[in-house]
Amino acid sequence: MNIVVSNVKGGVGKTTTAVYLAAVAARRGRGPVSLVDADPQGATAEWYDADPFEGVQLIEGPSVRTVTKAMDQPDGFVVVDTPPGEGTIVRAALARADAVIIPTRAGGVEPNRVVATLEMTPRNIPAGVVICSARLGTNDLEATVAWWTELKVPVWGIIPERVSIATGPAAGLSTEGIRHYSGVLKKVSSRTR
Ligand SMILES: Nc1ncnc2c1ncn2[C@@H]1O[C@H](COP(=O)(O)OP(=O)(O)O)[C@@H](O)[C@H]1O
Ligand SMILES: [Mg+2]
Repeated sequence: MNIVVSNVKGGVGKTTTAVYLAAVAARRGRGPVSLVDADPQGATAEWYDADPFEGVQLIEGPSVRTVTKAMDQPDGFVVVDTPPGEGTIVRAALARADAVIIPTRAGGVEPNRVVATLEMTPRNIPAGVVICSARLGTNDLEATVAWWTELKVPVWGIIPERVSIATGPAAGLSTEGIRHYSGVLKKVSSRTR
């Protein structure tokens, strides 16, 4: 199973989502789990090095070759963190995805970027958004969920804005983050089986 975490926009929650999802998949016994850092910035690899979690193998050194090789393995659970933009690595990953998770934020200019990502995703591949760093109970969030629902883009998760998640590897994975991303994994799994 290849899960690609992608959005042409940076700073939306791709790396956070990829890291938590891989950790959750390993905890749920979906292994062997590989976490592929396809972003030359290397944020996922840095996170993993600072806080390696059990049952997850990190694959770094982003190139079309490393990414496709990891994704062409016959079994295992592969989570791919991608760089922003529409580069060849992103396209190679999307072409091999069994599901595409598009992290996004509530409000304003975000929908266009999600639509651009959806347009790069082959039509037959299930795709859904995860609203990251969400302020629960705000009109912005409500309007964003309503917008995606109307466009028939599934919302696979709403992850609240939390300091414990923003801290990244420094404090380890947050219990709340694990709980919310477990829900995302369930939703994704139900769409791909
Ligand atoms: N649920 C959350 N609560 C608080 N901060 C978050 C949350 N999710 C992501 N962030 C923060 O948002 C920023 C961008 O997230 P990141 O995962 O690096 O995005 P991307 O990989 O798309 O650039 C980071 O500083 C990250 O810690
Ligand atoms: Mg990133």
